[in-house]
This record gives sequence, structure tokens and C-alpha cells, in this order.
Amino acid sequence: MSVVGIERHGAVTLIIIDNPPVNALSQAVREGLLSAIVDADGDDECQAILIVCSGRTFIAGADITEFGKPPAEPYLPVVVARIEACKKPVVAAIHGTALGGGFEIALGCHYRIALGSAAVGLPEVHLGLLPGASGTQRLPRLIGAEAAMDMMLSGNPVKADKALESGAIDRVAEVDLLSEAIDFMKECIEQGPRRIRDMEIAAVDARVFDVERKKIAAKTRGLMSPERIIRCVELATKTSFDDGLAGEREMFLECMASSQSDGLRHAFFAERQVAKIPGIAKETSGREVKTVAVIGAGTMGAGIAYNCLAAGFNVTILDNNQEGLERGVKTIKRLCAGGVERGKISDAEMQESLKRFSHAESYADIVGADLVIEAVFESMAFKKEVFGALDKVMKAGAILASNTSTLNIDEIAASTARPQDVIGLHFFSPAHIMRLLEIVRGADTADDVIVSSLALAKKLNKIGVVVGNCFGFVGNRMLYSYGRENQMMLLEGVAPETIDQVLFDWGMAMGPNAVGDLAGLDVGYKVRQERSDLPDDPRFYRIADALAELGRYGQKTGKGIYLYEEGSRKPVPDPEVAVLIAKEARRLGIERRNISDEEIVQRCIYGLVVEGARILEEGIAERSGDIDVIWMNGYGFPRHRGGPMHYADSIGIKHVYETVCEFRERFGAMYWEPPELLKSLADSGGKFADFE
Ligand code: 3HC
Repeated sequence: MSVVGIERHGAVTLIIIDNPPVNALSQAVREGLLSAIVDADGDDECQAILIVCSGRTFIAGADITEFGKPPAEPYLPVVVARIEACKKPVVAAIHGTALGGGFEIALGCHYRIALGSAAVGLPEVHLGLLPGASGTQRLPRLIGAEAAMDMMLSGNPVKADKALESGAIDRVAEVDLLSEAIDFMKECIEQGPRRIRDMEIAAVDARVFDVERKKIAAKTRGLMSPERIIRCVELATKTSFDDGLAGEREMFLECMASSQSDGLRHAFFAERQVAKIPGIAKETSGREVKTVAVIGAGTMGAGIAYNCLAAGFNVTILDNNQEGLERGVKTIKRLCAGGVERGKISDAEMQESLKRFSHAESYADIVGADLVIEAVFESMAFKKEVFGALDKVMKAGAILASNTSTLNIDEIAASTARPQDVIGLHFFSPAHIMRLLEIVRGADTADDVIVSSLALAKKLNKIGVVVGNCFGFVGNRMLYSYGRENQMMLLEGVAPETIDQVLFDWGMAMGPNAVGDLAGLDVGYKVRQERSDLPDDPRFYRIADALAELGRYGQKTGKGIYLYEEGSRKPVPDPEVAVLIAKEARRLGIERRNISDEEIVQRCIYGLVVEGARILEEGIAERSGDIDVIWMNGYGFPRHRGGPMHYADSIGIKHVYETVCEFRERFGAMYWEPPELLKSLADSGGKFADFE
């Protein structure tokens, strides 16, 4: 079946693109579109051309699955140029979203009309790219350099009304896009083709480009595409359209070939792949969830309750401690008010949300909830007690979820007579902000409970990743290895601030020591105290334990591994901690030495890769991409490196394996014995991404 069709409506020729799911500009679409344009342009009966799309959206951009493969003609810039060169007016009729190359096609058209619900945007920056089919040269001519730069640097789509205001589109259709577009075309025929390439670009103060560079520097931290987007727009203001295009092409190809774009493209697909769970049929429907009860009104419980409330659920929060409950209710109301202050919701919406919110002091008040999320503190005994109580009172079919961050979900489920209804929903703090939701599947968890949990994640605007059951699941289990190497290197002679700076410069959102202070050193300490399976190694997390034993819990006590001035979150190195570390190292007989930045990165990141490989071998994660999604969305791993497993794939598994073997020789096999999977992939020249 052809992906591009032609229909005649009197003097108007409709070119209809039909390439589900999102009408991406595959080679077949580009070829079909080019040929349809040439035909219509040469057709004496046709006075104007309308480009429309079937299905849920206008063109969502270039076909990302073709990136990284040998390019196939006709190239997109050629198609866009041919549309613009048409002798008769060409109009784009936009519904859904016109994104990237899709919006560039629309910019090649002489006029643009969009449904009120539609949006247009140039999101290439999220893929480490820049608009590569003349968007960087056409959009500034249409709406001005600064507005165009804003759109391209944020990558965010702009709604039709705003696009109309800026001039990015010419008309908003109220109800029926097609008939209103055909009406609009009468005006277009009168006015004739209006080509953006011939438009004068509005004068702009040349200093804006440096101002913009400075503005984005802290956020983009060395990413190539934002800097090149600015350069392209600068070029648009200084040179001819054709020279600008040549510059854009060169920089686009440079970005496309970069490892940054490769990592970001991997992130895009991996985040879509996670929703597909092998073994669960696509048609499996979830259970209906309208009412959520949250047990435990601490920081996590309140954050989860607020998150569910904001997503439209009816929410009840329960805590057996009256004081704790009141504090939690206050937190939720404060978060709601914060939403209004930040302009996320209106005051009326906040009032409406609060009508769906209640608090409870006994299980009797929550028996009708469709979903219960337990968020009490991390103690197996306590969690079992809660689940035992829930089992007695909750209605049949209610989903019973635990927000445990480490504990065995099967053991928790065993305290009920309905393990099929029990699942782990591991939220990350702050629960209403962090995008990751680890969905922990127990041995008996029913498929429809997993499907419901994925649907919940989507409603909460989170990315749900289904993982298997083991201590710490995927994220926190790997964090142990990462943190372990950080702790070892402290003893071996590197200052906490050095490790943090090196890993921050490498791309992590924060260094591990600053994260420890933020999360609270008491949290990990308590978990380690409860575990009986830790390595018999006095060095293991020794500094974190020593600090916790001194009551230095981190930001909340004003002292952790760093010092914090009253009211400040800025970590300040503490000489007392340096003394403590040196003393512990001496006591343990550890020789202090200089450690290179490269070794700091390798020990932390390869520590992750080694544990990730074991997780894959054991089937705790379905795919290496799932591990990447977890680390990018829950632990601040740089997206442009595509997650730890993709990073290992991109630098070469053989190299990682050899370095791990070297670490085994230097630091012992206790932590550095390479997993079989790493060895076999190194031997076969394979990648984690190929491992099924
Ligand atoms: N190319 C290939 N496949 C694409 C695609 C694209 N541009 N955009 C989406 N898809 C695929 C997804 O992978 C997914 O496939 P799957 O069902 O097999 O997992 C399917 O389409 C549906 O996508 P979503 O699950 O994301 O659907 P949503 O409805 O939630 O979102 C969307 C739709 C807003 C269009 C979103 O998919 C999106 O943002 N897509 C990417 C848009 C983009 O980045 N465009 C720019 C591309 S680069 C470019 O154009 C370069 C040019 O300047 C030269």
C-alpha cells in the first residue's frame, strides 16, 4: 500500500500521507511526497496543493529508525526545497503534532493551517541533533531569530494559538481541519506562493547569541547540538539562505555522527521499548484504578499521594501516627499550593483536587480503594504487618503495592493470601518529580496487575520499568557497586569533592557523595544494618557508616560527608571528614595514593556495568535498554551517554572486559570477577543490546 496518496477536490490537490503510527518521513514517504508534488505542480487542472496526514498526527519528523544507516535519496532538504519551489500555493494542514522534519515540511509549504489542538515544534535537540532540513534557516526568517532559537533550544512543541501569535502558522482551524483548510486555500490562491527563503530576516542585536550561549551553558554542559543550533541561527542572520543551508547541513551531519546523538537516540527508543513486556499479550487489559490509598504519610508517602492526586485519582492517605498524618497532610497541601505558584495548575484546579483528597486513621476507611501503595519505612517486619492487615480488609481484586526500595517483594506478598495482587512500585524521591517508577514483579504477580502498574506510571507522567525481584531490584542493586567504588576510593586517597567533580564533569547530575548527603546517610546505614548478606570486608561502605554513626546524616543534619551552612544546600568540604577518612584508612592498613580522573570514572561506571551484566544474566531486567532507562531517569546518568549498558556497548565491550580483568588483578576478585555475559560478549564481539 502506498504511503502517499493523491486526491483531487476541484482545483485543489490533496496529498495525503499515511504512514502509521506517526507519519514519520521514511524513504518511501519522502519519495512519494516528492513525486506527488512534482505531479501536482505539473498538473494544469490543479491550482493549489494541500498536504495532510491520516491517523493520529501530522508528520512527527524524520524516521529516526533510519538514522545511523546509509542515507537514502531523496534527502529531506531536497523534498522541502521542491515543495517551496512549487509554482502554485502549497498549504500544510496540521493536526496532532508537526515535529522536526514534519514541521520543516510545513515550513517548506507556502502557508500553514492547524487545528486548535495541534502543536508544532523542532525537538531535534532532544536527539542530540539540530533541524537538518532547513528549519534553522527558515524558522528565524518566519518568526525572528530569538523566538526561533528558543523553540529549537528547548525542543518543546508550541500550541497552535501561540504558534499563530508568533507567525509560525497562519491560521487556526476551529472544528473541521479539512474543510476550513480548503476555504483558506481560496485566499492562498489569491495571494500566490509565499516562500520563506525569500523573506528578510528581522534585524537582531548580534550580542544575543553570546547571551544565549551563556544562558544555556550550565544546563547543556558541553552538549554539541545546542551550541550548533545557536551557530546556525547566527549564520541565518549573517549570510545568504543557501550559505546558511550549507552550514546547517554540515553541522547536522556532525551532530548525527556524534556519540551524543547516538546515546540520545538510544534513550528515545529504550524509553518506548520498556512498555513492551515479553510474555504479556498486548491486548491484556489492566484493572480499573480510580481510588488510591497511600499508607505512610512520611516524605515518600506524601509525595506519592500528591502525585496521584495531581494525576486525577481519588486519594486517601493513612498513617497510624496522628502527628505524622497531620504533617503528611500539610505536605500534600503545600505541594498543591506550590503547583499553583509555579503555574502548573490553577487555584480552581487545586480546590478541585483537594475535594478528591482525604485522610484516614484506620484500615476500615480504605477498604474500597482500587490500589494501595504502602510507603512505610524500610523494615521487612513492618511491611509484612501492613500487608497482613491489608489482606484481611481490602476488597477482592485491589492491587496491593509496596514502595520498598530494596526488600524482597515475594516475602512481602507471602504475608497475604493473594500474592497475585501484590507488586512493588518503587518511586524515587521527590516522588512527584522523578520520572522513574520501578515496577517489581513478584513470582506470582498477575499480568493484569503489571499492566495496571504500567498504565499508572503513564498517568503519573512517569516511565514505568518492569523488573524482577532481588535485593535492590535493578537501580539500587547497581547503586551498591557504584557507591562501593566511591567509598573505596575515599579510603584510597581521593577527596569526596574530587570524586564528585570528576563524575559531574563526566555527565552525572550529581556526584555520589553529594547524593548521599541529599538522600540521607542514615537511610543506607539502616538498610545495611538489616542485611545479612553483605561482603565480609571492613572497607565496605566504611566511611558512610562512620559518618552515620556520628549522626552526620547529610543535608538534614547540616553535616554529612560535607558541611552545609544554615539554610544552604551547597556542599562545603569538611576538614574533619578528611581527618576521619585518613584515620579509617590507616586503621584498615590502606595505602593512600593519587588516583587519576580516568580511574575514578572507570571504577564507578564499570562497577555499574558489571552489576548490570549480572542483572541481565539473571533475567532481573528484560533488556539492557531497561537498565539504561532506569539509570537515566532515576539516578541522573547522562542521557547523551545512553545509560551504563549503552555506554559500555558504545566504547566496546572488549575494552570494558579487559579493564575489569585488570581491576580484578589490582583490586581482587571479590568485586571485579567479570560476569560470564561480559566475557562472552567480549569474545564474540557482541553488545549488551543484542542480548535477549
Ligand atoms: N521516527 C520513527 N519512529 C517514531 C518517530 C520518528 N520520528 N516518532 C515516534 N516513533 C515511533 C515510536 O518509536 C513508537 O514506536 P513503537 O510503537 O514501535 O514503540 C511509535 O512511533 C509511537 O510513538 P510514541 O509512543 O512516542 O507515541 P506518542 O503518541 O506518545 O508520541 C510523538 C508521539 C509526540 C510523535 C512522539 O513519538 C515523538 O516525540 N516522536 C519524536 C519526534 C521527533 O523527535 N522528531 C524529530 C525527528 S529528527 C528530525 O526530524 C530531523 C530533521 O530535522 C532532519
